[in-house]
Amino acid sequence: MKKTMTALLICGTALFLAACAGASGGKADSNIPEFVLTYAENQAEDYPTTQGAYKFAELVKERTHGKVEILVNAGGRLGDEKTVIEQMQFGGVDFARVSLSPLAEYVPKLNVLQMPYLYTGPDHMWTVLEGQIGDDFLGSFENSSLVPLSWYDAGARNFYTTGKPIERLEDMKGLNIRVQESGLMEDTIEALGATPVPMAFGEVYSALQTGDIDGAENNWPSYESTRHYEVSRYYTIDEHTRVPELQLIAQSTWDKLPSEYQEVIRQCAEESARYERRLWKEREATSEKKIRQAGCVVIELDPREKARFQEAVMPMYEKYCADYVDIIDAIVAAGR
Ligand code: GCU
Repeated sequence: MKKTMTALLICGTALFLAACAGASGGKADSNIPEFVLTYAENQAEDYPTTQGAYKFAELVKERTHGKVEILVNAGGRLGDEKTVIEQMQFGGVDFARVSLSPLAEYVPKLNVLQMPYLYTGPDHMWTVLEGQIGDDFLGSFENSSLVPLSWYDAGARNFYTTGKPIERLEDMKGLNIRVQESGLMEDTIEALGATPVPMAFGEVYSALQTGDIDGAENNWPSYESTRHYEVSRYYTIDEHTRVPELQLIAQSTWDKLPSEYQEVIRQCAEESARYERRLWKEREATSEKKIRQAGCVVIELDPREKARFQEAVMPMYEKYCADYVDIIDAIVAAGR
């Protein structure tokens, strides 16, 4: 009986579709998308990167006249960043916006763009990403099964702790600090004298709450949006790294798309990135305000102390950038 019902339903649906095709003169209905694609985003709905993703999906739909539909899944619904990148290798997820830290585990050269204390500020980073250096990096994804589309902003990362503030390099000693799942991030924390604890983003709140970790590090909007500031009240501004982010598409999905849709996707990714950067600037300011109003203790690292932090990570340049000395020199020169 159940089988008969299913067969009837399938026949019914097929007939309905055929009738629709008949009504539109035998052609496929123009409202039916040719491609329905998934997009993974691990931030909350109102976060700048998520809003950028929605803008991207909206633009693509509009400019392909509904033929390419992108379904944005925010809040990590499709998995944490590492899992999403893995799924993209075989097209299990079509698009994502990810942080360069976990991505560099698959495309190691990307570590160069997120070395500790590399940029003097946001303008420096954007000069690099939007210039020849950024373009060259976008062209270095061969054999990764991923196609990079556009850079997104994620500001600068700072430390936050539960028990006591970080004011001097010695304060790092003995702390268990959560890091992204990235060798570079682990080494940075170790170089600064603390113990790195790699962990997915979504697990950090409870780890702070239970005391499994003594702190973490992130930009203002993430610290605020995740409510980590409720359980970790000391925020030390040292800006130890700026980790750019990327919108990506799985190579296998990319190869299925006709070139006119590929072109539209590239353009819309660029436009959505400009939109995200505007939202990012606003959100950085509102998040900082909210955190200060909530009574968190915000510490500006003394410049002499910051110089000691910078000195401590210098050996990492030898480990990660020995093959890219020219690029590092060019990045540093772009900030002068
Ligand atoms: C930032 C970034 C996320 C990342 C997170 C982390 O918030 O935008 O993509 O997952 O850092 O620390 O894991």
